[in-house]
Amino acid sequence: MATGGPRLEFLRNKRRAQRFYRQLSKVYDTWLRDLFWTAEMREFGVRMAALRRGMRVLDVGCGTGFFTEGILQRVEDVTGLDITTEQLRRARRKLEVPLVRGDAERLPFRDAAFDACLSAGSVEYWPSPMAALREMHRVLRPGGVALVGGPTRPRDRLYRFLADNMMLFYNEGEAREMFEEAGFQGVEVGYTGPAWKPDLAIVTRGVKPASPG
Ligand SMILES: C[S@@+](CC[C@H](N)C(=O)[O-])C[C@H]1O[C@@H](n2cnc3c(N)ncnc32)[C@H](O)[C@@H]1O
Repeated sequence: MATGGPRLEFLRNKRRAQRFYRQLSKVYDTWLRDLFWTAEMREFGVRMAALRRGMRVLDVGCGTGFFTEGILQRVEDVTGLDITTEQLRRARRKLEVPLVRGDAERLPFRDAAFDACLSAGSVEYWPSPMAALREMHRVLRPGGVALVGGPTRPRDRLYRFLADNMMLFYNEGEAREMFEEAGFQGVEVGYTGPAWKPDLAIVTRGVKPASPG
């Protein structure tokens, strides 16, 4: 994944990611999130997913529910999933939708249970994004939409060094490759971000083929 020198990717470990978010959860909604993950970015993701009323939607790595709230402005049937109990506890205070503790790489849902499977700001912590994308593909009905947003790799050398040691980054070509390998078609890539970095996030969308082959 991605190019360049050695990477520690310390937080691409489920236990460490949970421990990290157990602490971060305390400040996540109050000051941290707005810096990196704005309402405009959320709107970009929701629009790109092209959600329609009546769809059943899964939000993977829902955290405290910011993206889930944006999805709920378009559709009613939304389920959130996250691996960190503390994040879900905060989401439960705000949202009245099913919120499930689980792992993106082993989704606790039956095949074809959803019309859309979305995720924002979580892929960078998954040890195997391919396993998670395959799971998204499995729980989507034929014709269903997957959309995943993650960070772009910092350009500044110091930030890049720090970031590489924390989490996963992938570029547009790698995003397309992963989605296609997981079985998605019509793959599209877009970028969004806050005013201080308009391409902070890379957003990838793909469609599960309506019929096999
Ligand atoms: C940046 S936060 C939440 C972003 C959230 N989508 C939002 O709108 O605010 C990333 C979340 O990914 C979750 N996460 C990390 N690894 C995960 C995994 N393997 N499965 C499910 N959730 C995971 C973390 O617990 C954390 O809540």
